[in-house]
Amino acid sequence: MKKTALITGITGQDGSYLAELLLAQGYRVVGMTRRTSTDVHERIQHIVDDIEFVSGDLLDQTSMTSIVADVMPDEIYNLAAQSFVPTSWQQPVLTGEFTALGVTRVLEAVRATNPKIRFYQASSSEMFGKVTEVPQRESTPFYPRSPYGVAKVYGHWITVNYRESYDMFAVSGILFNHESPRRGKEFVTRKISDGVARIKLGLANRLALGNLDAQRDWGFAGDYVRAMWLMLQQDVPDDYVVATGRTHRVRDFVRIAFEAAGLGSFEKYVVQDPRFMRPAEVDLLIGDPTKAHEQLGWKPDVSFEQLVEMMVRADIDRLSARAGA
Ligand code: NAP
Ligand code: GDD
Repeated sequence: MKKTALITGITGQDGSYLAELLLAQGYRVVGMTRRTSTDVHERIQHIVDDIEFVSGDLLDQTSMTSIVADVMPDEIYNLAAQSFVPTSWQQPVLTGEFTALGVTRVLEAVRATNPKIRFYQASSSEMFGKVTEVPQRESTPFYPRSPYGVAKVYGHWITVNYRESYDMFAVSGILFNHESPRRGKEFVTRKISDGVARIKLGLANRLALGNLDAQRDWGFAGDYVRAMWLMLQQDVPDDYVVATGRTHRVRDFVRIAFEAAGLGSFEKYVVQDPRFMRPAEVDLLIGDPTKAHEQLGWKPDVSFEQLVEMMVRADIDRLSARAGA
C-alpha cells in the first residue's frame, strides 16, 4: 500500500529535500502551501508534477482540519514556520502564531480527524539558546534566546503533551543547523556562499556580516531529512537530537568559503556591520547525536568542509549561468 505524507512548509529548504526523499520511497506526497500571488515553487520546480498541492495556512484552524480530513495522510511533517531568528524580534506575535500555536492547530486537526496519523514536529537547537550543558542532548534544559526559540519550545512541549495526553505518535526532532545550496539567502551560510560567489565573479567587493564568533553545529539538509523520516518509522514515538557533533565559528565558514573560491584570505573583503548583530545571541551550539545514531541508525554523510564547498560551488555556478544567459 502506497503511504501518504502531508508536508507543511514544502516550499522551504527542508520541505524540498524531504519531498524528494519520500517520492523516491514511493510515497504519495501532498504539500500544503499558502496562497500567494507569485510562484513560490523555486526549490521544488523539478518535482512539482509529482506532488499534490493543497492550500492552507498554519494560522487557520479550519483549513488545517479540512486538509487533514481530505488528504487522510499516514504521516504529517510539520515543517512550516517563521524560521528566521532576527525576524522574530521584529514580528514576535506573528512568530508565536505560526511557530508556536501553529503546531497546536496541526495537532488538533490530527486529534479531531484521525489520532493514528504519525506526526513530526520540526523542533530546533535554538531551544537550547544560552546553553546549560555542552554538548546538548535530549535531556539538556531549554533556555531560548529569541522569540523564535521561545515559540519552538512551545511547539516542542505541545507535541510531547499530545503524545502523552492522547497517546498519539507525535515526535519532536531537535535539529541543529542544516544548510544546503537551497538555504534562504538571509541565513549566514548562504549569505556567505552567495557573497563569496559574487566577489569571485566581480559582482561585489565586500561582504557585511555580524557576529563572526558564534559557533554552530552545521550539517547538510539532505542528511537531516532522512532523520525526520526515520523518526516516524520507529515502533515507539520519541524525541531525538540530530546534529553532527562538531562545531565551528562563523569565521571558520567564512575562511573555508573564501579559500574554496580561490580568493585567499577573507579579511580584505569582510566587514562587520552592527545591523547584523542580535539583541541576544546564541553563542555556542554543539549537539550530541548518540541517541539518533544508536536508535535510528542515522549519521550524516556530508562533512562541514564538503558542505561549505558544495554551497560555494553551487552559487558560483548559478551566478555564472545567469551572467552567461
Ligand atoms: P524555510 O526554508 O524558512 O521554510 C519555511 C516554510 O514554512 C516555507 O515553506 C514557508 O512557506 C512555510 N510557512 C511559513 N509560514 C507559514 C504559514 N503560516 N502557513 C503555511 N506555511 C508557512 O525553513 P527550513 O530551513 O526548511 O526549516 C523547516 C523547519 O525546520 C522550520 O520549522 C524551521 O524552524 C525548522 N528548523 C530548521 C533548521 C535549519 O537549520 N534549517 C533547524 C532546526 C529547525 P512560504 O514559501 O510560503 O514562505
Ligand atoms: N543571518 C545572519 N546574517 N547571521 C549572522 C550574520 C549575518 O550577517 N553574521 C553573523 N551571523 C551569526 C548569527 O548571529 C548566528 O549566531 C549565526 O550566524 C547563525 O545565524 P543564522 O544562519 O541566521 O541561523 P540561526 O542559527 O540563527 O538559526 C537557524 O538555525 C536554527 C537551528 O539552530 C535557523 O534555520 C532556525 O530556523 C533554526 O531553528
